[in-house]
Formats: sequence, structure tokens, C-alpha cells
Amino acid sequence: MAKVAFLGLGVMGFPMAGHLRAAGHEVTVYNRTSSKAEAWAAEHGGAARTTPREAAEGAEFVMACVGNDDDLRAVCLGEDGAFAGMGAGGVFVDHTTVSAAVTRELFEAAAERGVAFVDAPISGGQAGAENGQLSIMCGGDQESYDRAEPVMDAYAKICRRIGASGAGQMTKMCNQIAIAGLVQGLSEALHFAETAGLDGRAVVEVISQGAAGSWQMQNRYETMLDDRFDHGFAVDWMRKDLGICLQTADETGASLPVTALVDQFYKDVQRMGGGRWDTSSLIKRLRAAG
Ligand SMILES: NC(=O)c1ccc[n+]([C@@H]2O[C@H](COP(=O)([O-])OP(=O)(O)OC[C@H]3O[C@@H](n4cnc5c(N)ncnc54)[C@H](OP(=O)(O)O)[C@@H]3O)[C@@H](O)[C@H]2O)c1
Repeated sequence: MAKVAFLGLGVMGFPMAGHLRAAGHEVTVYNRTSSKAEAWAAEHGGAARTTPREAAEGAEFVMACVGNDDDLRAVCLGEDGAFAGMGAGGVFVDHTTVSAAVTRELFEAAAERGVAFVDAPISGGQAGAENGQLSIMCGGDQESYDRAEPVMDAYAKICRRIGASGAGQMTKMCNQIAIAGLVQGLSEALHFAETAGLDGRAVVEVISQGAAGSWQMQNRYETMLDDRFDHGFAVDWMRKDLGICLQTADETGASLPVTALVDQFYKDVQRMGGGRWDTSSLIKRLRAAG
């Protein structure tokens, strides 16, 4: 069992840190809004600290799941950052979805201190985090990955190293590109069913068993039909991810026309006040237009 710190107790981080504790690790947590860290410690019996540095002191592994590139820099760098508290030989594992550029920048900054940095973005949604069934796609050197994998196992359905630093984040971009058009397609299908007077639940019961079935269909159709979006993966985060995908595609030369279009649809949802709604709220935009 390891000494582990977890930074960022949001929708994903809170249950992930709980799985580490349940697996028997010694867990110390940090959250910017300290009341959440205290609530976590009260529920799971670990310790709460008020800075990333304090949480990271003495930890063999420091896991993070915060917001965007700047948020990740904020918890890693500076006097109160995690790197300042980590000893040589420690491994920092980043579960945030960020750019490959910031990942490589922090990989280098960590290496200067003798700290390893593994990029390990996740997929599987809120339910995946709560059930400990996440897909984890990793980048970094093999030895550090091999050390971190048994710890990540506490909340993983599958965990794989794809390549050198940044490869995990590049894989997560593939994931988000694949999801963007799919959620729009699902929204259009359910919206069409509503306008045609069909029973949406009956429609999904049958088509989910055929070629149209998907994680999004299975996990989101009920809340979409009920017009409930106060859960899951926030539209603001999806726009952050699609921005990273589109910028990176400019660098690699990939053509992403549907991803670019769906990004604009999410901008409409933000204008409707849906920045914190789940990404399946694309259907709300169709209902508003219809
Ligand atoms: N939700 C999903 O289904 C899902 C799935 C896969 C990947 N992700 C990715 O995982 C990450 C977290 O997502 P989430 O849904 O858990 O987000 P969330 O609920 O908004 O939680 C974000 C967490 O990061 C902390 N944070 C943000 N900025 C910070 C800063 N500058 N300094 C310190 N802490 C900061 C927040 O602290 P406060 O409590 O103080 O706000 C909160 O604990 C994002 O990169 C997201 O894209 C999410």
C-alpha cells in the first residue's frame, strides 16, 4: 500500500480518491474549496491539507484531477505547488484533461526535481469514477508508468501506456473527437423521435441493441428524455477539450469538420446558460430551435 495525495475533489476526483482509500492506501487530499476536502476526509477517513504542497509532502504518488492547463500549473508549480513538496523519486499522475504541450512542459519541470510525471487522462464519466470503472490512457516513461499502474488500478477498468509524455493526452483527444459527433447524432435521433410522437424509451430499448448503440445512448438517454442535465461532464469542460483538439489538429494537419461544428453548438448551449450542464444537453438546443 502506498502514501498517496489527491489534488482536486470535483465530480471525478472526489470518488476517485475514495477508491484509493477503499483499496487501503494512505490518502491525503487537497481541494481549492477546503470544505470539500474536509467533507471527503470526514467520509473516507483520510487527511485534508490546505495547499497542494502540504498534501504532497511525503507522498510517493500525487494524483491530480483539476480543470484546465492553468489550473494544473497552479497546483504543480510555485511555492505552494505539489512539486515543491515532493521528494526525488515521487510520481505525479495527472488525470486532468489538458493539452499535450502543458503536459510536456510539466514533465520537464518535474524531471528537474527528480520527480516523474505521468499524463493519465480518463474516460467513463461520473458513473465510471463512482464505480471505479475508468478507462485511463497514459503517457510518460515506462518505469514510472509501471510504478503508478497498480495505484491507478483502484479506479480503472482499463489502464494503458500509449507512449512518451503527452501520448495519454493525445489519446484523450481522439476520445473527445469520437464523442462530439456521436452526442449530436444521439440528440438528433431522440429529438426526431419526440417530434414524430414516438415513445423515446421504447425506441432506445430496441435501437441500443443494434448498430446505433453506444455508451452515450445507454448512460444518457433517460436523462435526455427527462430534460435533466445537472450531472455528468460539464459543457464548459467539453469546450475546453474541443478547443485543445482543434488547435492540435492545426498542428498535426488533421481535418475535423464535425468536431468544429459541434464545438459551435456547445457555444450555443453556453449562451443558453448551460455551461455546467452535462454534454448531452445538445438536445436542449434542438428543442429550443424546434
Ligand atoms: N466529469 C466528467 O465526466 C469528466 C470525464 C473525463 C474527464 N474529465 C476531466 O477531468 C477534470 C475534472 O473534471 P470534473 O468534472 O471533476 O470537474 P469539476 O467538478 O469542475 O472539478 C474540478 C476540480 O478542480 C479544482 N480546481 C479547478 N481549478 C483549480 C485551481 N486553479 N486550483 C486548484 N484547484 C482547482 C476544483 O476545485 P473547487 O472545488 O475549488 O472548484 C475542483 O475540485 C477536467 O479536466 C475534465 O475535463 C471530466
